[in-house]
Amino acid sequence: MTPPVRLRPWSGADRDLLDAFNAPSMTAHLGGPEPSSKLAERHARYLALYPPAGAMYVVLLGEERAGSIGWWERVWREEPIYETGWAVLPAFQGRGVAAAAARAVLGEVAAYGTHSAVHAFPSVDHPASNAVCRTAGFVLLGERDVGYPPGSTMRCHDWVADVRRL
Ligand SMILES: CC(C)(COP(=O)(O)OP(=O)(O)OC[C@H]1O[C@@H](n2cnc3c(N)ncnc32)[C@H](O)[C@@H]1OP(=O)(O)O)[C@@H](O)C(=O)NCCC(=O)NCCS
Repeated sequence: MTPPVRLRPWSGADRDLLDAFNAPSMTAHLGGPEPSSKLAERHARYLALYPPAGAMYVVLLGEERAGSIGWWERVWREEPIYETGWAVLPAFQGRGVAAAAARAVLGEVAAYGTHSAVHAFPSVDHPASNAVCRTAGFVLLGERDVGYPPGSTMRCHDWVADVRRL
């Protein structure tokens, strides 16, 4: 059963969520925990992101903050696209929250974005995030080297969803 998730815009009061996401278990496939200064930069970036450049949201399950998701512009293989990424707090994992949020974020891009291709780039050895892509209806294009985290390269799956086909 799909859990009743809602997306609400990231707010100034959500800085603490970044600390919760920064645990070693949550960042194992993202290059590891970031220093506090990087989290502050990330928070400021999230607050300044507006459509059609992108948007960040808190994922709500009922009234509880269960995670985050967003979409942002990047140039990929010389084309302007949107990238998406997600995180769900350990207490809410394994209930379909990320997959439901990923479907919801495609609806947001369809409504407020200007590009139709939404890509996700989970590490090839991240079963949960690759399963989220599959369940949310993304199509696997193949393996790519992606420049992440800054200064290094990660072998990732390139998944795409076309919001014109929703
Ligand atoms: C990846 C993450 C968001 C998944 O969140 P979640 O809410 O638990 O995911 P869901 O419950 O929606 O699961 C979706 C699918 O993933 C599968 N899945 C979940 N955890 C899994 C695991 N550890 N191993 C394999 N598959 C897994 C589920 O079985 C489900 O598959 P199904 O739809 O075929 O049944 C969560 O583990 C997380 O926040 N991790 C840390 C941050 C992170 O790595 N973000 C992604 C960056 S690319």
